[in-house]
Amino acid sequence: MQKILYTNNVSEAIESLVKEINPVSVHIITDENVERDVLARLALPYPRIVVKAGDEHKNIASLSQIWAGLIEQGATRHSLVINIGGGVITDMGGFAAATYKRGIKFINVPTTLLSAVDAAVGGKTGINFEGFKNEIGAFAPADAVVISTILFATLPREELLSGYAEMIKHGLLSSEKEYNELLNFHILDANLESLLPLLEKSVKVKERIVEEDPKEHGIRRALNLGHTAGHAFEGLALERDTPMPHGYAVAYGMLVEMILSHTLLQYPSAELYRYASYLKDNGYGAPAIDCKDYDALVEYMRHDKKNLTRDTINFTLLASPGNPLIDRTASESDIRASLDIFRDLMGI
Ligand code: GLY
Repeated sequence: MQKILYTNNVSEAIESLVKEINPVSVHIITDENVERDVLARLALPYPRIVVKAGDEHKNIASLSQIWAGLIEQGATRHSLVINIGGGVITDMGGFAAATYKRGIKFINVPTTLLSAVDAAVGGKTGINFEGFKNEIGAFAPADAVVISTILFATLPREELLSGYAEMIKHGLLSSEKEYNELLNFHILDANLESLLPLLEKSVKVKERIVEEDPKEHGIRRALNLGHTAGHAFEGLALERDTPMPHGYAVAYGMLVEMILSHTLLQYPSAELYRYASYLKDNGYGAPAIDCKDYDALVEYMRHDKKNLTRDTINFTLLASPGNPLIDRTASESDIRASLDIFRDLMGI
């Protein structure tokens, strides 16, 4: 089990982990934005390897820069890497550490809500390659993760909403009680310290699932809730040069998949209205789609890498909040009908 520290005293937590691990040297991997906005406040006395920020730099060139930096800074098999950043940094820094001299220890310090609730925990590492996202990588859990909500103080509201959608996903997978608690919390009005206990509960949901199925042979696929339809919204928005935050796409995707769950598994209809109202009242907006986009959206869903064949579209669905069912398929006509209801509920 990964060691996860929940604290708002980040420097102290890192220093105590370094003492415990006792490496011969420590190397920070980060990006230019995090170096400017976060590292200045942490005052950690270790050399840094700073890559360019953004998913477009989660590539072999940045990875090679990290490996070269580790060599130049004299890292050995007994050194420690500390990845400080969002999902790009924890994924790519984790992969760099997992492959440098056949693997050295690393700690993740996520600086976005999205990476804290998802990428930094669970051992998926890697880079994008030849236009495919996360095409090259390895399962390599961090030796420790330090989660702190005060690091999110400089995040724009879209980043908070984006990460919060993944927390709602964990609530839906876990229990009605946890889901209700999340829908009663309003991330944009809250103070960040009050988010820490909720985030801890949320990360524990992912931990439990990953512990049961670390390499995604079965139940870990439940974490894809909202992602089959979500990736379709995200892909279409990107294709139109109007990219949407990942978590917004997941938030919309979860509504489409709840509607499918209602059609196929009698997921309660009152829950559809409740969730759609939450999205509308809490600043998630709505995707700019109409019925002319259905062909493209279905095509994106068909190409989702979780599908076993081209003729079936695979979803994680819900019998009720807290009761997910993996490997469910839906017909194209059910998907089109669910997009109609989605537009109706979102008022688009
Ligand atoms: N992001 C889903 C997972 O880690 O499996």
